[in-house]
Amino acid sequence: MSETQKSWEHRLGKPTDSLAIDFVESLSFDKRLYKYDIVGSIAHAEMLCEKKLITKEEFKQIKESLIEISHQIAEGKFKFDKTYEDIHMVIEAALISKIGDAGRKLHTGRSRNDQVTTDMRLWMRDEIEIIQTKIALLQKAFVKLAEKYVNEIMPAYTHLQRAQPVSVAAYLLSFVEQLNRDSLRLKNCRVLLNLSPLGSGAIAGSTLPLDRKQTCSLLGFSDITYNTIDSVSDRDFCAEFIFDCCLISAHLSKLAEDWIIFSTTEFDFIRIDDAFCTSSSMMPQKRNPDMLELIRAKTGAIYGSLMAILTILKAQPSGYNRDLQEDKRHVFNASDTVEACIDMACAIVENTTFNTAKISSGLDKGFLDATAMAEYLVKKGMPFRTAHGIVGSLVAQCEKEGKTLANISIEQFKKYCELIDNDVYQYLGSKNVAASYATAAGATPAQMAEQVNYWKKQLAER
Ligand code: ARG
Repeated sequence: MSETQKSWEHRLGKPTDSLAIDFVESLSFDKRLYKYDIVGSIAHAEMLCEKKLITKEEFKQIKESLIEISHQIAEGKFKFDKTYEDIHMVIEAALISKIGDAGRKLHTGRSRNDQVTTDMRLWMRDEIEIIQTKIALLQKAFVKLAEKYVNEIMPAYTHLQRAQPVSVAAYLLSFVEQLNRDSLRLKNCRVLLNLSPLGSGAIAGSTLPLDRKQTCSLLGFSDITYNTIDSVSDRDFCAEFIFDCCLISAHLSKLAEDWIIFSTTEFDFIRIDDAFCTSSSMMPQKRNPDMLELIRAKTGAIYGSLMAILTILKAQPSGYNRDLQEDKRHVFNASDTVEACIDMACAIVENTTFNTAKISSGLDKGFLDATAMAEYLVKKGMPFRTAHGIVGSLVAQCEKEGKTLANISIEQFKKYCELIDNDVYQYLGSKNVAASYATAAGATPAQMAEQVNYWKKQLAER
C-alpha cells in the first residue's frame, strides 16, 4: 500500500470520483479542529501505550510527530489534500508518511465517528470560554455607560409608546441581565457536553481492552458517555450551542433596533461615534447606523443555522450517518457570526453617548407620570381601578388643552377628585416619578446605583 493511499481503497473497486471527492470533503471547514484532533490523538495513543497496544517508543514517535504536524499547520506549511476527506484522515496520513507503521497503529480501536465528536466537544469547550469572555466585555461596557447616566432619566417604552420614566441606567442594565443569562446558558451547555465519547469506536466500542476513563481524564472531561450508539450520533450539544448563540443574537438585535431608532433625527436620544457610522454615496448629510443594521440582520443567519441543525438531526436513523458531518458548518457559522456581533456591539456601546439634554427636554411629553398619579390616589385610599379611570379622564382633558398633568391647577384637579391635594405636585413630573419607585429593583437612580455596583463586583472576576 502506498503511503498516500486510503486503507479502504482495497475494499472499493475504484478510486473516488472527482465530483464525489469535492462533495464529500469536510476538510475545507473542519481543518480548524486540527489542534483538538491532535490533542485527542495524543491522549488516545498514550492510552494505547498504557494498555500495551503500542510500545513506548511508538507512542513517543506518534506524539512527537503529531506535535510537529500541529506546528506545520499553525505555520501554514501543511499541505491539506482534500482527497483525504477530513482533518482526521489528513493528519493520520501525514503521520503515516512521517513514521510508517507506528503511525498506522494510531487508529487502533478508534473510528472517525468517536473521533469527530470528541474533537467537536473539545473545540466547543474553548469556544464557549471565548464567547463568555466577549459577553463579559460587553456587559462591562454597558455597566460603564450605566454608571455615567445613573442620574439621568429617560422614558421607558411599551409597544414603543411612552410608558414610565426610568433611570437611563435601568435601560442599559436590562442588557446586562440578558447577557448574563446568555453566559449561564453557555455554562450549562458546557456541563452537558463535557463528557468523553472517545472509545465508542464506530458504534459499539472495541474488542480491544481500551481504557476510556484514562482518555477521559487526559482530555479533562468530567466523565465518559455510557452508550456507544448515542455517543457517536449525539449532536444535542451542537443544537443547544447554536440555540444559545441565537438568544445572544436576539438580545443584540433588540439593542440594534433600539439604537437605530434612538439615533434617528426624530428621537435623537443617542449619538454613535462617527467611526461606527457610514454615509451615503448620494446623500451628503447621512450618518447611517449600518453596523447596528448588520447586527440586526446577522441574527437571521444564526437562526438559520439552528433551523439547519434541527432539520439535519430530524429522523436520522440511530447511529452515525454522514449527515452529521454538516453539523460543523452551522456550529461554526453561528459561533463566528455571534462573536463578530458581540465584538461590534461592544465597540458601539463603548463609543456612544446619550443626548441627555434632548431626552430631558421631552420628558414632559407622553404622560409618563400618569401611573404614579393613579398610585398617589391609591395612597389616599381610592381603589386602583377608580383611580385609573380618573387619571385617564385627566389625561384625555390635558391632551385636548395641550397640557401636562403637572400644569393642572388644584381647583381643576378637585373637580375630578376631592382626594387630590396640593401635595400631588411632588408626585408629578418624570424626575419625581423616577425617584420614587418603592419596589425592589424599581428603576430609580438610587437603586440603579446599587445595581451598577453589584455588576461591577460581579464582572470584576470575569
Ligand atoms: N468528517 C466526518 C464528520 O465530520 C468524520 C466522520 C466520518 N465517519 C464516517 N464513518 N464516514 O462527521
